[in-house]
Amino acid sequence: MTSVLHAKTVLIVGAAGRIGSAVVDAVLSAGGRAIALDTDAAGLQTLVDAHGTDALVCGSVDMVDRESVDRALSSAHDRFGAVDGAVNAAYPRNTRYGRHFFDVEYADFCENTGLHMGGYFLFMQACARYALEHQRPFSLVNLSSIYGSMVPRFEVYDGTAMTMPIEYAAIKAGIEHMTGYVNAYMKSRNVAFRANCVSPGGILAGQDEQFLARYGNHCLSKGMLDARDITGAIVFLLSDGARYVVGQNLVVDDGFSI
Ligand SMILES: NC(=O)c1ccc[n+]([C@@H]2O[C@H](COP(=O)([O-])OP(=O)(O)OC[C@H]3O[C@@H](n4cnc5c(N)ncnc54)[C@H](O)[C@@H]3O)[C@@H](O)[C@H]2O)c1
Repeated sequence: MTSVLHAKTVLIVGAAGRIGSAVVDAVLSAGGRAIALDTDAAGLQTLVDAHGTDALVCGSVDMVDRESVDRALSSAHDRFGAVDGAVNAAYPRNTRYGRHFFDVEYADFCENTGLHMGGYFLFMQACARYALEHQRPFSLVNLSSIYGSMVPRFEVYDGTAMTMPIEYAAIKAGIEHMTGYVNAYMKSRNVAFRANCVSPGGILAGQDEQFLARYGNHCLSKGMLDARDITGAIVFLLSDGARYVVGQNLVVDDGFSI
């Protein structure tokens, strides 16, 4: 990857996760500086071990704690002079998340949508406020999913313990619509704040072989992807090459949803 993020500082939430850690890697490889935030302190330490601390700063931050997010933004600003963009790759959920439709309790539905969709709302609000206060261009990339805009193909999960939970559909559709909302809200405020979504297909993580084969039948060439397959789209949206890309949803799924 070329240095398309040279001298840019990018905040990444969920940075210790499967996709987040690949984003940290891609931002650094593209010449940027990464502020890696997560609740998983051990995962953050792994990032420091891999990348050092010249261009990487890590912080224990809970996305649903407004003060801790604001603190992270302002200390990134103090350290590097500015924050140019952010990626939200966090995946908060409670221990009962991931159940079949008839097994989802109302309290769990509310808790999981509150944590995930609510957390993405809070983070978007913090980024927009930062851009406004500092009068700086800002590019925010929200991780959505193919399931934000398509209904699940439930047959790919048949005979496995997996499913696609109803909360996820609500959360990701909500994130995509909120992304449009924030762009519309910010448009008249005289600051080049832009937010876009990237919607990955499934990421390979030791899933059931039968599922992988069925899933792959709907794809063009690879099937389930690696987290690194998603990062080109994210780096593009963070870069100046995407300066006029506003409020879009870039689907990266090897054709699964087509
Ligand atoms: N893995 C997939 O197949 C896939 C597919 C499409 C979309 N996505 C989306 O991509 C994003 C990342 O997914 P992933 O597979 O890398 O997830 P992951 O579980 O591997 O990583 C998520 C990270 O978020 C962190 N996190 C959770 N709650 C947090 C909070 N409150 N504050 C800060 N950090 C918090 C976790 O500690 C973890 O490191 C999610 O939005 C997910 O919905 C994933």
